[in-house]
Amino acid sequence: MSRLASKPTARDVAAEPVRVGLLGLGTVGCGTITVLCRNREEIARRAGRRIDVIQATARDLKKKRACPIDGIELVADAEKIVRNPKIEIVVELMGGYEPARSLVLSAIAAGKHVVTANKALIALHGNEIFRAAQAQGVMVAFEAAVAGGIPIIKAIREGLAANRIEWIAGIINGTTNYILSEMRDRGADFAEVLKEAQRLGYAEADPSFDVDGVDTAHKLTILAAIAFGIPLKFKDGYVEGIAHLTRADVAYAEELGYRLKLLGIARRAPNGVELRVHPTLVPERRLIANVDGAMNAVLVKGDAVGPTLFYGAGAGAEPTASAVVADLVDVVRTLTTDPTNRVPHLAFQPDALVDLPILPMTDVRTSYYLRLHAEDRPGVLADVTRILGDLGISIEAILQKESAQGENTVPIIILTHPVMEQSMNTAISRIEGLAAIRGRVVRIRLEHLHADWH
Ligand code: NAP
Ligand code: HSE
Repeated sequence: MSRLASKPTARDVAAEPVRVGLLGLGTVGCGTITVLCRNREEIARRAGRRIDVIQATARDLKKKRACPIDGIELVADAEKIVRNPKIEIVVELMGGYEPARSLVLSAIAAGKHVVTANKALIALHGNEIFRAAQAQGVMVAFEAAVAGGIPIIKAIREGLAANRIEWIAGIINGTTNYILSEMRDRGADFAEVLKEAQRLGYAEADPSFDVDGVDTAHKLTILAAIAFGIPLKFKDGYVEGIAHLTRADVAYAEELGYRLKLLGIARRAPNGVELRVHPTLVPERRLIANVDGAMNAVLVKGDAVGPTLFYGAGAGAEPTASAVVADLVDVVRTLTTDPTNRVPHLAFQPDALVDLPILPMTDVRTSYYLRLHAEDRPGVLADVTRILGDLGISIEAILQKESAQGENTVPIIILTHPVMEQSMNTAISRIEGLAAIRGRVVRIRLEHLHADWH
């Protein structure tokens, strides 16, 4: 081993530690302290200075914590931390919109750099926060906000900077991927698996954010901004969760050679940007279709590099801490850099963002899985296929299942080729109007994710 590698550099030892204030001592807060303690020397060698958490806050300061907090002063009033002149970096790991937003803005106003894992905060208030940070010349780093431990922000913002990004499709919520995987593998019950995801620390404080697709939409909003150089536009996207999915849909998808995943898709279209979150059938031969449990994966298609796939743990204490600490190291390394020469918060220079519209869902073109329940008599299928044909909707596959015992309807599964959502809406309402069709038509979107999709 060389001398250089075996000895700590003089710079580490001599330099003053960087003092950090931590807002939140939950799953990620404690994971961050644990990783900072365990890898203290290695991290200092990378950052060039030691990183010390000197103050922290939580709601209940008496609660027993899952990490070593000796030597950290616990402070009830978070404002004292963000205004402490000794603190250079504030790490926000409380979650939610308030008081996180006010505290982050206070920290920025006090000239502190900020690291956060809070995707809800960045997706909704990021434009305001980055403007304030730009004016103060401080950094706001948020790698942990998207896809847990996968360094996807850095990859898109820096590693793929040569490319025109064409589309992104990602499994970016560990909780829902865990639920769908367990439903498929064990035939497990939705509510039971959700409880397990909460116990493992994957779920949000309000798990409806996970289940209803909102957490995925927060993360997708951030990815779209850094990929396309647009402002954060959470409110304009389409969001649909997984609560309505049945084990039957998971099984039928499987039978047809597909896996059911909650995907976040951001795609450049000629007249704007598609920003959509919904359950999606993905061909089982795609690598992303085989991402199971709480793992995340993000497919990014750049015009120069082609499709790239980033895979790793999307939630949990230490995987998320890995991203938080990487941001801390990045901030420490750039403490001496001229603020105007830093990597821009949203990848593109603040005066070079373009305000592309987010397309309404009716203007999105995609393939579909339809499940309908029809009376088992001649001519019904012909009526359904005529409706689709009249609207120019081409069928890829049809599967008719046996009727359940005691029922006189049969489930029919139809896969279509790509069509505009507007036409599919018309087709579904006409099909639901047929006398032989019972109940609502279940619609799940299907994407082939071909390398040449653009
Ligand atoms: P958590 O386990 O619920 O921890 C939140 C912490 O913040 C707790 O220590 C809580 O105090 C404290 N806190 C909450 N509200 C507060 C307030 N008003 N004042 C003072 N302290 C407050 O949450 P988490 O899972 O660590 O998530 C933290 C952030 O990371 C969230 O933005 C989340 O979306 C994000 N994130 C989480 C994961 C993950 O896998 N968990 C992954 C990526 C990103 P008490 O402990 O006293 O209640
Ligand atoms: N609740 C989130 C998830 C945490 O399940 O992916 C990681 O962002």
